[in-house]
Order: sequence, then C-alpha cells, then structure tokens
Amino acid sequence: MDALLIHGGNPLAGEVRISGAKNAALPILTASLLSAEPLKLGNVPHLKDISTMLALLGHMGVRVTLDDKNHVTLSGESIPHKEAPYEMVKTMRAAILVLGPTLARFGEARVSLPGGCAIGSRPVDLHIKGLQAMGADINIEHGYIHARCKRLQGARIVMDMVTVTGTENLMMAAALADGTTVLENAAREPEVVDLARCLIAMGAKIEGAGSDVITIHGVDSLHGAEYAVMADRIETGTFLVAAAMTGGRVRATHAQPDTLEAVISKLREAGAQVSVGEDWIEIDSDGKLKAVDVRTAPHPAFPTDMQAQFMAMNAVSEGAASVTETIFENRFMHVQELRRLGANIEVSGHTALVRGVPRLDGAIVMATDLRASACLVLAGLVAAGETTIERIYHLDRGYERIEEKLTQLGARIKRVH
Ligand code: EPU
Repeated sequence: MDALLIHGGNPLAGEVRISGAKNAALPILTASLLSAEPLKLGNVPHLKDISTMLALLGHMGVRVTLDDKNHVTLSGESIPHKEAPYEMVKTMRAAILVLGPTLARFGEARVSLPGGCAIGSRPVDLHIKGLQAMGADINIEHGYIHARCKRLQGARIVMDMVTVTGTENLMMAAALADGTTVLENAAREPEVVDLARCLIAMGAKIEGAGSDVITIHGVDSLHGAEYAVMADRIETGTFLVAAAMTGGRVRATHAQPDTLEAVISKLREAGAQVSVGEDWIEIDSDGKLKAVDVRTAPHPAFPTDMQAQFMAMNAVSEGAASVTETIFENRFMHVQELRRLGANIEVSGHTALVRGVPRLDGAIVMATDLRASACLVLAGLVAAGETTIERIYHLDRGYERIEEKLTQLGARIKRVH
C-alpha cells in the first residue's frame, strides 16, 4: 500500500496551478444523464473519485471519451442500466448524485443506499424526501433506494438541513420536472452554482443558485453543452495553509478567490499576508502565526473541508484556539494522529482546543479520510525529521498530483510503494 514520506522544514515558494474542483466535477458528470446529447467538459481533475464516477456512468451506459486536450465527453443517449451498484456506492458516496437525474429522465432509478462513513453517519433522507415531494414513489429494498415516477412534478421543498449533494440532486431532478420547483434552505456552496451554470448551458431554467432559495422551471429535455469546471477551492486553501505554515510565499494560479473568502480572512487573522487578483491568490508568511478560532458551517461560512488543515496550522501557531465542527459528527479523526506528531489538542464534544507547540516531530501516522490526510501532509511539511503517512489512497481521492505540486514548491516529499 502506498505511503508518503515527508522531510519537514522547507518553506514553500513559487507558483502552483490549481486543478478543477472535485466536488463540482462529480455532480456535473452526472448531469450527462439528463440529456441524450453529448456534454463536453474541461478542467475535470484526474482523481480517484472522478474515475470511480466515470466507471459508474460507463456501467450505466454513458459513453465516455477523452480527447488529447483532456476534455471529457459524456454521451448519455441510451442508459440501459438505471442502477448504481453497492460496489461503487460504497467506495464513493457521491454516487447518490445519479439518483435525481436518472429518475427525472427515465422514470426509474436504483441506487445502493450509502452506508456509514468515516466522518459521520451521512444519511440521504433529504434527497429521498425531496424526490417524494416531487411525486416519486420510493422504496428501500435489499439495501437499494428504488425510485419510480411517471413524470416528476414541480414542488415547493423546504429542506430541514443545508445539504450540498441533496440540493444538487433535487436541482437536477427538477430541471426535467413538470412545472416549477422551489428549493428553500438550499445549499449556497460555489459547487452548487457551478452545477447550475452547467445545467443552464444545457438549457435548464434555474434562478437563485448561490442563494438559499433556488427556483427551477422544468423543461421537456436538455441539450448538449460545453462547460469548464470551476477551480477547486479546497485544494487552493490547502496550498495556502501549507505556505503559511512553512513560512513561504506561494501564488495559487487558475484559482477562484471569490469562493474562498472565509478561508482567506482566517489566514490574514493568523498573520499571513494574502493578496488576491482575478484568478490568483498569493500568500506570504514568515511562519510565525497566531492560532485562530474556527467554526465550520455551510457556505459562505468556514468550510468543513478546511477544518483539518486549520487544525494542523493551529497546532504549530502561537497561543490557543478552538476548532468547532458543526457539519459532521465525527470529523476529528486527525486529532489522534496530530497528537502522535506532538500536537497539544483536547477534544470536548464538537470542539477541539488546540494549544500551539513550538515544534512537531515526524512519526508514522495514518490517514483516515481525505481532508484528514491533507492535514497530516501539512503537519509533515513542518515536523522535524521524517513523517510517514500511511493509507494515502484517501489523499488521491481529492488532490491531483499533490506530491508533484509540493515538490515543485520545494517540499521534500515522495511516494513509496
Ligand atoms: N444530511 C442529512 N440528510 C441528508 C443529507 C445530509 O442529515 O439527506 C446531513 C449530513 O449528515 C451532514 C450535513 O447534512 O451532517 C451536511 O451534509 P451534506 O449533504 O451537505 O454533505 P454531502 O453533500 O454529502 C458535500 C461534499 C463534502 C463536504 C460536504 C459539506 C461532495 C461530493 N461532497 O457532501 O466533501 O464535506 O458537502 O460541505 O460534494 C470532501 O470533499 O472531503 C467532502 C467530504
């Protein structure tokens, strides 16, 4: 099994090109199920979760082609298998995103019910309730969500909690429903907006994406389109934190600064200099940071997907700070591993109190989920001596060529098999 070896201590310097966003690309790929015409996508990152989604869509019947410019074209002319099997859903929960579009276009879909997850129980009840409100008949049978309908009907749906993929699933379903759907308490994440833009390019009629009320006027069919996926704000944030912690100067290019306001403001509060252009963000840090309080919440507040990285930063900053996780109930698995590197962190309920220590010491640690593994990479970049991170496949789900990008910035990092 692959591991990463990191020799800490080098300040990062230079430019890093940000990849397309995993969490925007995943729903946008499934939008290909909504049309018989091809959807041509640019800026799709090369990641494990993306290849799993492409394999799932291929299994369902979507024809997937790649050209020499790295465009992915998806043709969903006929979809003989309207099913996401257990084997695929268990490795990637985002497979639930095929439910809404498949049901809306074909009147039937079967998707394995996702089980528990390392970071929380993560139910999909709001996806199901929303589709039922639109007239779907849904049964849970043999571990599968089996959904059927004649044609989905527009509805007013007030979502009990803010859910990102739930909003995306219902927005895609509503695009082909009969009449108007209003999603209230919708997720405002930039990835929801990116999906809406792609659907609009395919002929959907959507208003309000990016606010908490999204209105979708259903149409009879969607057509093909070309679309470029937005920049990955979490990859961007992770590199900015890496530069801040190592006392470096890094410019993230091909980025979308307007999607990272909460993160940039926390980095400034910690003492880093951050400047921003239209599609770049530059950070300059002397490595002497102050610990900053962080509380995760739906966008535009501080993202849960950056919580672990800020925990690593606080662990080597001056002073003490609290890190509160309000989205997922078990997203502190990195704490035990950071402690193995010498961090001083106490957890009480959903809050971690981090007291900065002057230095971390390299050790063998284990990645438990995607963002936890990013947090361990950051800790390894500043730890004295060598850090070995095991179970690095978690990292490959969401960070494209991370060791290559970090090496270009001056880190000493290598993958061992
Ligand atoms: N929830 C419910 N019922 C539902 C749906 C959600 O109770 O039907 C709860 C969840 O259990 C959680 C909260 O609502 O406590 C928010 O979950 P959400 O549905 O928003 O999460 P998600 O859509 O499953 C996406 C990202 C995650 C990211 C979260 C929060 C994708 C593919 N995944 O997940 O990304 O953490 O939104 O922003 O978009 C990651 O990239 O590392 C990652 C985990």
